[in-house]
Amino acid sequence: MRLRVFGVVAAFLLALPLLAGGCDWNALSQRVVNPTPGDAAAAARGKALFEASCASCHGVRGAGDGPAAQALAYQPPNFTDRLRMINRGDPDLYRFIVQGSPHAGGMPGFGDKLKEREIWDLVNYIRTLYPTRT
Ligand code: HEC
Repeated sequence: MRLRVFGVVAAFLLALPLLAGGCDWNALSQRVVNPTPGDAAAAARGKALFEASCASCHGVRGAGDGPAAQALAYQPPNFTDRLRMINRGDPDLYRFIVQGSPHAGGMPGFGDKLKEREIWDLVNYIRTLYPTRT
């Protein structure tokens, strides 16, 4: 009897690091998986955010022609260029918005200004800026 209790406790203790590791892994993977791909409501929220925080450089249609773009060392990309954009996964766009440009004088990071959901809303909006088919 006492041995069986010991066995259960030991098994639980041995499983703890596995459980903790599993939780961390889930949290990490959720952070880079688009929670609302192709969702129209998410894209609509993203549109409002884009116009407020991004259009100054990226242009209202995302063509990279915002009024603030000319002063930058690196020009914003053209989000209406389908062939360019389909080569970028949602996690790539998400991470770029969080971290900003690796180039000095490029895009600032928005990880400390926007919530996780807002950044995914922006990713979903950017996906509506180019045609789905040619
Ligand atoms: C100060 C101007 C500026 C602002 C504001 C800005 N960006 Fe950018 N963005 C850039 C530039 C310039 C680049 C090109 C990469 C670089 O910085 O070298 C870029 C690149 C990107 C990319 C990478 C695209 C790719 O295909 O590699 C994404 C995504 C992006 N911006 C999204 C956003 C979003 C969303 C916002 C608003 C929350 C935003 N940007 C605000 C200037 C800006």
